[in-house]
Amino acid sequence: MSDVTKELLDETQGYVEQAKAKAAKAKKPWQTWLDAEWGFRNHWYPASLSRDLGEGDSKGIELLGEEILVTRQEGKIRALEDRCPHRGIRFSSRPLFYTKETLTCWYHTWTFDIEDGNLRTILSSPDSKMIGKCSLKVYPVEERKGVIFIFVGDIEPPPLHYDVAPGFLDDNAVVYCAEPYDINSNWRLGCENGYDPGHQFIHNWSEMCINAGMHTSYGYTSTKEDVLDTTRYVELEDGPKGFTRKVEKTTFRHEASIPLKDGSKKDLMLPLARGKSKEELDQLTAIIRLGTVGLWMPASLKVTTFPAPHCTHYEFYVPKNKDEHTYFQFGVIHTDDEEEAERWLGEDGRIMWEVPAVQGFTVDDAFAREQMHKYYAEEDGWQRERLFQPDVELTMWRQFASRHARGIQTEDHSRGYFKRD
Ligand code: FES
Ligand code: FE2
Repeated sequence: MSDVTKELLDETQGYVEQAKAKAAKAKKPWQTWLDAEWGFRNHWYPASLSRDLGEGDSKGIELLGEEILVTRQEGKIRALEDRCPHRGIRFSSRPLFYTKETLTCWYHTWTFDIEDGNLRTILSSPDSKMIGKCSLKVYPVEERKGVIFIFVGDIEPPPLHYDVAPGFLDDNAVVYCAEPYDINSNWRLGCENGYDPGHQFIHNWSEMCINAGMHTSYGYTSTKEDVLDTTRYVELEDGPKGFTRKVEKTTFRHEASIPLKDGSKKDLMLPLARGKSKEELDQLTAIIRLGTVGLWMPASLKVTTFPAPHCTHYEFYVPKNKDEHTYFQFGVIHTDDEEEAERWLGEDGRIMWEVPAVQGFTVDDAFAREQMHKYYAEEDGWQRERLFQPDVELTMWRQFASRHARGIQTEDHSRGYFKRD
């Protein structure tokens, strides 16, 4: 290698080292958020829809990296570690329930009690000394509103409603459940996308907006004072924790321009805003202003008056592992009228919520999260991002979540290093 090449290489290497050192510097005030790549431990999460697990059914799921077998036996949902202590077989790959009380491993017949997880017998060796001496982890489960919630952690679980945004579990809440799907992005990007005031621009691509002729904007902007003024924190000891922003004081920009080198500028206007009078534009944005958007521990979003005035949209970004999250979405109305409730669970919920919101709107959010994942997962994005003023609301959430997390999930938990009794 010539001296000149060596010098150039050294110089390049020096630059890389410097840039990395700069990126890895300082701890952030939201360090817990940065550490929670695998999710927050000791919280409740939606794991499946009730309708996807009939009597006698079972399936393997992944929650915060932990592999879990979920089954319904005699009407009751059980969630068990999907890993045989003998030699690690996943029960879910060939589930074997000889009785309603037991799960048998299909490899060497170890048979477990599905209520407490203990090894009850071994079909081939009923006198084995191992019997009664080892167990599977049993996960606390609650089934409410057509959703199966599982608690992932080691502590005595707090009541479910501490981890579900207000309104969802109300007696008169009628919950329309969309089919959940997996997204190739870390769960934290889900939280940050849903709440991001600057992300509204992506919904100019959304079918719901196009079909309704509803312009969105180049992104919300608010002054710091207005953000503080319109954000309400909920940090009760005995209830859900989260915060909510009213959209009322936000500025929506429909026009923009790009300065050109010759001193002139290229003017732009959002396609769906073109040809509309100021009054018409104001009228449409007034509808958006009625809404509120809130983030709730451990990983969900609640949007009121969306997409219809009487509907509340809930979504959960459930960590599946560090590179995927499961996207649960629910359209909720509150009513004591049985007929209205029945209609909502049928065609009303489908036409007024699922088709516009799930099929025609949030798909663009899902796409954006996937596009952002590589930077954060592989390119030090959490350290290298260059935040600007509207992002203050994201850092507010990061700090809030860091304050209220009951624990951090780690890769070791996903490999089965956790408490079993
Ligand atoms: Fe399950 Fe052997 S691996 S009994
Ligand atoms: Fe969105």
